[in-house]
This record gives sequence, C-alpha cells and structure tokens, in this order.
Amino acid sequence: MMAAATAHVGSIIAVTAVLTAAVMALGFVLLYHVTVRRRISRLLGIISDISAEGSETRAVLAALDIGVIAYGGNERLLTMNAMAGNLLPEIPTTLSDFFSRYGEENGMKASMFLGSDALSGMVYLKGRTLVVTVQKRALDQARLSGHIVMIRDVSAEEREETRRKEFVANVSHELKTPLTTIKTYSESLLDWGIDEKDKDALKKDVRRLYDDSIRMEQLIEDLLLLSSLDSRGLSLKVDTLDFARLVRLATERVQLMAAEKGVELTCVVVAHIPKVLGDRASLERIVINLLTNAIKYTDPGGEIFAYVGTIVDDVYVKVKDTGQGIPPEYHEHVFKRFFRVDNTGSRRFGGTGLGLSIVRELADLHRGKIELKSEPGRGSEFTLLIPGKRKVLRDTRIMLLEGNRPVDAVGRAAADEIEENEDIQLPAPLEK
Ligand SMILES: Nc1ncnc2c1ncn2[C@@H]1O[C@H](COP(=O)(O)OP(=O)(O)OP(=O)(O)O)[C@@H](O)[C@H]1O
Ligand SMILES: [Mg+2]
Repeated sequence: MMAAATAHVGSIIAVTAVLTAAVMALGFVLLYHVTVRRRISRLLGIISDISAEGSETRAVLAALDIGVIAYGGNERLLTMNAMAGNLLPEIPTTLSDFFSRYGEENGMKASMFLGSDALSGMVYLKGRTLVVTVQKRALDQARLSGHIVMIRDVSAEEREETRRKEFVANVSHELKTPLTTIKTYSESLLDWGIDEKDKDALKKDVRRLYDDSIRMEQLIEDLLLLSSLDSRGLSLKVDTLDFARLVRLATERVQLMAAEKGVELTCVVVAHIPKVLGDRASLERIVINLLTNAIKYTDPGGEIFAYVGTIVDDVYVKVKDTGQGIPPEYHEHVFKRFFRVDNTGSRRFGGTGLGLSIVRELADLHRGKIELKSEPGRGSEFTLLIPGKRKVLRDTRIMLLEGNRPVDAVGRAAADEIEENEDIQLPAPLEK
C-alpha cells in the first residue's frame, strides 16, 4: 500500500517536472522569439530610418545650386549631386584624379600635397568661371575622413562685376572730359584771356564752358535716371495721353537744333491715333532721344521724318533719317550703356552713349519695344511701338477676372480705371 502510494507520488513529481521543463522550454522559445522579432523590427526601423535619411540627403543635395562631390576615406567617389554633373564635364572617380583634372593650374593639387585641409581655387571651363572648394571632413564616425568638393558657378557675378567696373570707368571718363575743358578754359581766361582776347574770342570761350557744363548736367541727369531705373525707384505718373500730340510737341522742341544743323525735320501723323496709357515725361524723353540722335547723326542737307501711326492695337512712332546709318553688327549694341559707333562721328558730336539704353528701358516700362532698321550710308529707322490704351485695358480686365492684379505702373493705372468705372469683381490689392 505504502509502496503504491510512493510510486504514485513519484510519478506525479516526474510528470510535474516534465511539465515544468516543457513550460520553461516553451517560455524560453517564446521569449527568444519575441526578443528576436523585436530586435529584427528594431533593425528594420533603423534601416528604414537610414534609407529615409539617405533619400532626404539626396533630395537636399539635388536641390542645391552648387555642385557637391564626396570622396570617401579611401579617396574613392562616394556620392555627387546633379549640379556637379552639370558644372563639370567629367567627375573623376578618385580624389587624386580630381586634383589632376581640376587642380593643377590653380595650385590646389600642390596645396593638397602640402597638407592643407581646406583648399579653394578657380576653374575656367567653356566660358564659365567656377569656384572649387575642397574640405577634409569626417563623413561618418566609422569611416576615415573623406573630402567634400563644392563647386559654385560665379560667371554671372563676375560678368556683373566687370560691367560695374566698366560703368564706373566710363562715367569717370565722361565726367572728366568736360570738366578738364571747363578747368583749362577758365584757367586761361583768368590768367590772361580776359585782358588779351577780343569780345568774339571771349564769347567763344565762354560758349565752350557753357556747352561742357550742359554736357555734364545731361550726363548726371542720365545717370540719375538710369540709377532710379536700376533700383526700380522710377515712379511713373501714368495718364491717358494723346500720343500724336506728344510726338508733334517733341518735334517742335528740337526744330531749332535741326535748323542749326541744316537738316529738315517733319512730323507726319499717318492715321487717327488711339490714346495710350503712359508717363508723359518718359515718352517725351524717348521721342526726343530718337530725334536728337537722328539730327546728330545726319549730315547737313539731310531729312528726318517722324511718322506716327497705328498697327492693330499698337501705336508707333518711326523716326527715319538719311544719315550715316549703323552697320548691322552694331544694331544690338547701340542699346547698351555707353556704346557708341565710332564711324558715325559720335565722338565728334558729343554724348555719352546712354541715350538709347534709356530709350529701351523706358519703352519696356510701357510694355513697348524698340526696333531698328538701318543700312550704312542710307540712313536709320528707329521705331517705338507701345500698346494702345484699349489693348492695355483689355489685357488688364482678363487679368483681374482671373484673380490677378497687374504689378507694372501701366497695368496698375488700367486696373484703377476699371475699378472706378466697371462692375468687375476685383481681387484685393496685394499686401505690401
Ligand atoms: N540715328 C542714328 N544714326 C546713326 N547712328 C546712330 C543713330 N542713333 C544712334 N546711333 C549710334 O548709336 C550710338 C548710341 O546712341 P545713344 O543715343 O545711346 O548715344 P549717343 O547719342 O552717342 O549719346 P547720348 O548719351 O548723348 O545719347 C551713337 O553713338 C551712334 O553711334
Ligand atoms: Mg543719343
């Protein structure tokens, strides 16, 4: 009986032990499974973070307007962005090849050998000026330090800088020339001229002084106008104008100059001219500049016509002369600041070469354009075309209905007029 009970207890213990072992084993298996799963999922998370970071980094690199190339610790190409490919014709696969290709002439390769950590140099390629900077950087903790190459295209800045320098040199020269005359003539008059010269000679000298002071005054006026055009600070006073009348009055203002030169100047209004929206002073300036050029560059006995007409919705004034004309290769250049064609006798006639650049910029402000036709020896024809008021109003109406407001002075004046007179749902003015 005792033995049977002992055997029973023994088998219970054995079963319990087996069960406990089984449960423990199951527990271990489960625990192992959960831990591994968690570890795997953490790993997957890290990988996805890394790849997200990678694609973010790539997106940032692609959006940069500078070229970026990274070389790893082993000096091999790690990554680069699209801009680097645009700026350089070829991306070397090793850092030393990079220096051999782009760092010989500017001394970057030599500085690299001397152990410099940050190098920079200019690279000139196909009319482009590039600034290349190479920095030694730890690209990540695990790797040896690599190199980041940055390439920036500075061609536009360089061109602007050259233009600025030329402009300053030209202005100084153009101001100095009349100033020198004024100084020399007044000096000689003060020293001995007033006593020794006769009345006519004196008058001639004073006339010279006067002419050159006018020349300086005009140049300064032109410069101030150009500077306000550059800084967009020119405020146009836009009104509804009778364009034919404006041209007729401008022609009258330069009649005396034409008569003195011995050229005949006639204004012809070809048709009924629609009204324009514009700034009177600026449009007058355009017409006067074209007319005075025609007078200046036409020999005595020549003829000048100012035709005023209309084509579809545009109005035009065409100033046609029988002067020396302009060779075709200069047609685009004459609208640039300070450009003068020497063989038109521009040096002889005085002036600074700013007139036509002002004409073009003022025409732009009126949504207009200026065209030139000219044959050397046969004369020139400058045409200013600007949209008539009706066209500007029509375009502005469309803009307003689309929910936009014009930003230029002519368009703003049209919008104001529409707002006052018409029942159009206008968008609110833009906040400044
Ligand atoms: N009607 C024309 N016939 C021939 N050449 C012209 C005519 N108009 C302009 N040019 C040429 O174009 C150049 C540029 O003209 P622009 O009016 O800009 O300057 P400018 O007359 O020399 O000086 P300013 O600044 O006093 O006007 C002139 O120097 C001249 O060589
Ligand atoms: Mg001129």
